[in-house]
Amino acid sequence: MDKFVIEGPSILKGTIEAGGSKNCALPVLFATLLSPHKHHVAAVPRLNDMDSTMKMLVHMGCIVDQKHSRTFGSDWIIDASKLSGADAPYDLVRKMRASNLCLGPLLARNGIAKVSLPGGCAIGARPMDLHLMAIEKLGAEVTQSAGFIEAKIPAGKTRLTGGRIIFPLVTVGATENAVMAATLAKGTTIIENAAREPEIVDLCRALISMGARISGYGTSIIEIEGVDNLGPMNFRIPPDRIETATYLIGAHLTSGDVTISGAKAEDLGNVLDYLTESGAKISCTDNSIRCISSGKIHPVNVTTAPFPGFATDIQAQWMTLMSYAEGDSTIEETIFENRFMHVPELVRMGANLEVLGNKVKIKGKPKCFDGAPVMATDLRASASLVLAAVAARGESTIRRIYHLDRGYENMETKLRSLGAKVERAMD
Ligand code: UD1
Repeated sequence: MDKFVIEGPSILKGTIEAGGSKNCALPVLFATLLSPHKHHVAAVPRLNDMDSTMKMLVHMGCIVDQKHSRTFGSDWIIDASKLSGADAPYDLVRKMRASNLCLGPLLARNGIAKVSLPGGCAIGARPMDLHLMAIEKLGAEVTQSAGFIEAKIPAGKTRLTGGRIIFPLVTVGATENAVMAATLAKGTTIIENAAREPEIVDLCRALISMGARISGYGTSIIEIEGVDNLGPMNFRIPPDRIETATYLIGAHLTSGDVTISGAKAEDLGNVLDYLTESGAKISCTDNSIRCISSGKIHPVNVTTAPFPGFATDIQAQWMTLMSYAEGDSTIEETIFENRFMHVPELVRMGANLEVLGNKVKIKGKPKCFDGAPVMATDLRASASLVLAAVAARGESTIRRIYHLDRGYENMETKLRSLGAKVERAMD
């Protein structure tokens, strides 16, 4: 198993290129299952989650050809002409929960889909009830047995039927499955309380490139007019907003100056405002964001919320930043029920944190942590530990960085180019 060995403290300075968005690439790649064509998806990040996605697409009968770029990302040609399978087996789903995003496309195209239940997850229960509610509203029959969900278009029908889906809470994955399934349904589908995340907007744009008729994406009401067939997809994956935010936070944390080229400010929600409030100077162009630290980190309370609110995927990294603030702050997590696994690890490095239910009280102390051996527990928690280690004095080792490899492309290369001392080593 790989680990990172980081020698700190370093000041992050320089320019790096934003990688392609993991959370956009996942639904977009699964959406290619909707139509029997050769699809072209550019700038797919090179991540372990993309390897899992490729295995899943190949398992379902797609032929996938990848062309790596010289630096970051790959272009994928996916030939989905013939599908041989309509099931997502446990071995693939347990490695990547987002494999359940094949449910909507497979069901809509094949009339049947069988997806293993994902089981528990490090950051909470993450059920699939709302994914199932959505496809049932479109006329699917859903049964569960032996750890699998089976969804079918009822006998005598060849297509799903448009319907009204009202989500009781904002869910990104279930909105994505609902949109994909509805593209080929007969009639019109209205999704109320839909997620408004940039990944939803990009998925809809990718589907529109295939001929789907969708409006309202980016708002909480999405309307999809089902079509008989979809054509080939031609889509470029946009930059990863969570990766971007992670490096911007790293710049402020280390009193540095970092520019992320290719990044889009409008996708970052309110995190840029919070960075400004915490003492960073943020400047944006059409395709870059720069963060210059003032050298002083002011405490800022945050509460995670669906887009455009403060993203839960940036909560752990923010906790590292606030641990260095000149004053106390709180973080409230409202999306997932068990997303403070990084707390004990940050405490090992010197942070002063107290968990009170879904809140963490942070006693800021603007002096260097000491490097320490720590353990990565999930993807974004790992990123918070890497940032803490770059800012800490002395050597830190971060074990189980396979979590990090799921979502950060070439993190050590990017950090090194910004001046950090990071080595990947075998444990
Ligand atoms: C996606 C992102 C993840 C991000 C999360 C919230 C991907 C691949 N992952 O995850 O990085 O942290 O959005 O922005 O894009 N829920 C239910 N029933 C369901 C589905 C969800 O109760 O059927 C609940 C979840 O337990 C959670 C909340 O809804 O409390 C939001 O989850 P959701 O937006 O669906 O997260 P994901 O799509 O899994």
